[in-house]
Amino acid sequence: MAFASLLAFVALAAVSRAASSAVTCSDGTAVSNAVCCDFIPLATDLQNILFMGECGEDAHEAIRLTFHDAIAISQSQGPSAGGGADGSMLIFPTVEPNFSANNGISDSVNNLIPILAMHPTISAGDLVQFAGAVALSNCPGAPQLEFLAGRKNATAPAIDGLIPEPQDNVTKILDRFADAGGFSAFEVVSLLASHSVARADKVDATLDAAPFDSTPFTFDTQIFLEVLLKGVGFPGTDNNTGEVASPLPLGDTSTGGNDTGEMRLQSDFALARDSRTACFWQGFVDEQDFMSSSFKAAMSKLAILGSNRSDLIDCSAVVPTPKPAVDKPASFPATTGPQDLELTCDSDAFPSLTVDPGAQETLIPHCPDGSEDCATVQFAGPA
Ligand code: HEM
Repeated sequence: MAFASLLAFVALAAVSRAASSAVTCSDGTAVSNAVCCDFIPLATDLQNILFMGECGEDAHEAIRLTFHDAIAISQSQGPSAGGGADGSMLIFPTVEPNFSANNGISDSVNNLIPILAMHPTISAGDLVQFAGAVALSNCPGAPQLEFLAGRKNATAPAIDGLIPEPQDNVTKILDRFADAGGFSAFEVVSLLASHSVARADKVDATLDAAPFDSTPFTFDTQIFLEVLLKGVGFPGTDNNTGEVASPLPLGDTSTGGNDTGEMRLQSDFALARDSRTACFWQGFVDEQDFMSSSFKAAMSKLAILGSNRSDLIDCSAVVPTPKPAVDKPASFPATTGPQDLELTCDSDAFPSLTVDPGAQETLIPHCPDGSEDCATVQFAGPA
């Protein structure tokens, strides 16, 4: 009896401690813990200094950085290989960013280092993951990511060889994700929803900002549809490592425009067709809510690699509410259609989609506002 009373007392004490840590920040946001309030001015700085409220180049790069910081951890090689989502990219900016698989990542690293200095209460690992969540909130259709605070700062950089590369085969990719954090094949495909808001600057050295789908500024399911279409050509030069032919390669750069044409990564191509992942890939086509919630769940796991969930504080309330999804079903871009689908998932029916009208490839917007010309596309020089 006395023991039961003691237990009840301990439980009550825990509840009241949790309740007492809940606070309202100066801007009126209710959070679970006062430490979360520090992320509110950080979100403002990220938006005003870096992202400008847009799902543009700097936002894309920050989203990519969340992955490249976090995945650098290995269960089989042990803690000395890397600390996961520990901000090691920012703390050792002359080490990991120089690995070839991280080519281009220094843009986001260099963008975030001054912001880290402006917010001394926030760890580098927290900044990387929070910046990604804020960046995503600018992309219509993206989920409001979970954000847990309290990552410890990295004490050493990660080793080379832990970041998946586009020329890796599906077995190598799945093995790497499993070794990093026990990710399933479904979770790997879910994470690749990120390529809905992505453009390559380094795969083809002749191209800056070659988009992976026709809607690089909205977090929609076009990437899952377009990677399933037959490839017909390359947007820039042929035969770059990690690149395969895309269905919309033309662009208009040869006539002075900014649309490079669509680029396709070999890894996305392979994951879309491999028997272990094809049905998951196809299953996201025109399933905005399912894709968005699956991505959110997998990101919750990725973002805390290297930390124990129970050691962190839930600050999700300070992640900005994302822009709503563009209310447009997935559709075949003009000049493509159902006849171009390369489907290997036999068990599921493919959704019935409309074909965008037009005898020529639609120009892919170069700017977040949907236009082709923008003086302030947030490139800090060539990307
Ligand atoms: C199989 C795994 C993956 C491979 C092989 C891969 C590969 C690549 C490559 C080669 C690029 C182009 C980089 C450049 O040339 O500028 C890229 C861009 C990007 N990736 Fe991935 N990626 C993978 C998974 C992920 C994941 C899990 C995320 C995020 C959760 C992510 C987010 C991005 C973003 C946002 C970009 C665009 C960056 C920009 O527009 O500047 N990727 N990825």
